[in-house]
Amino acid sequence: MLTLGIETSCDDTSVALLEGSRNLLRFLVASQLKDHEAYGGVVPELASRKHLENLIPLLSQLLDECHIKNPSREINLIAVTDGPGLMGSLLIGTTAAKALAQAWEVPLMTVNHLEGHIFANYLAHEDLLPPFITLIISGGHTELILVKSFGDYSLLGATRDDAVGEAFDKVARLLGLGYPGGPLIDEMAKRGDPFAVALPIPMADSPDIEFSFSGLKTAVLWALKRNPHVRVEDLCASFQHSAIEALLRKVDLAVKITGIDKVAISGGVAANSQLREKVKAKPWRAYIPPKELCTDNAAMIAAAGCNAYRRGERSSLSFMPDPAKTL
Ligand code: KG4
Ligand code: ZN
Repeated sequence: MLTLGIETSCDDTSVALLEGSRNLLRFLVASQLKDHEAYGGVVPELASRKHLENLIPLLSQLLDECHIKNPSREINLIAVTDGPGLMGSLLIGTTAAKALAQAWEVPLMTVNHLEGHIFANYLAHEDLLPPFITLIISGGHTELILVKSFGDYSLLGATRDDAVGEAFDKVARLLGLGYPGGPLIDEMAKRGDPFAVALPIPMADSPDIEFSFSGLKTAVLWALKRNPHVRVEDLCASFQHSAIEALLRKVDLAVKITGIDKVAISGGVAANSQLREKVKAKPWRAYIPPKELCTDNAAMIAAAGCNAYRRGERSSLSFMPDPAKTL
């Protein structure tokens, strides 16, 4: 069974071909980072225009490189992200998927972007079986989810305000580092002292599984105002320390509450080197995909779509994308 995955929910255009459940033949990503850099964040209108430009050439390249000569015969399923995400961006991917499904007479499966992130770990770790906890951390999401079985999810907790990746991006902007902030802060922090600037660990004293990152961002702003000569490396290291601690302490709590000690972490912030190092010392077992599967990609969408199809789920061609879709 060959599944074509299509992902256009935010600012990455991506296509993938997956054979069976896990054999990833190839995935391609056309990043829009350079296009949005000048604006310090994703501009939705620009993102949808770029998806429109990039999607068909990227798809042709994928089919060529995988030697697919007759897609209507060789491809068995099309899996596409239908939310959550930016409406304009989602519309490009879903409209293309509907057109291809009709032209090739191939079934189509819609995929929740968050379920996609769960399946990045499925692709990377064959031994990862439910039940497990998953932490999805990206520019748009900070969610702890209990995976009871594939297809059966329950939300344990989420952010009250900013997503953690958004906080990395906003802090980088206020320090004048550039966009996206995560990788830049990650690099700076390697040369800084995480205890040089006293910053709060958000929600550390709350007994609930919930996150908050907007106060931490403001605390960085105040630290900078109090001491404009602070070493940027130290401020980055201190911010990163607080943000990562806030995430991992709530994972500790979720493990305690559920009694489940397998934790799959994904989303762009899962590429953070300090987070990847710190989980090694935890009593629970962390599963993290390689960095290229942490950020948005169509490989995880193809895997989630194939799994849903094999579970017996079906999608009609008349669906509309849902920017606020929940799991
Ligand atoms: O999953 P993703 O590619 O797109 C969204 O769905 O948002 O995640 C992008 C986010 C950005 O906020 C970026 O700053 C953050 O992931 N990020 C990182 C790192 N690499 C990317 N955050 C912290 N450390 C990193 N190394
Ligand atoms: Zn994502």
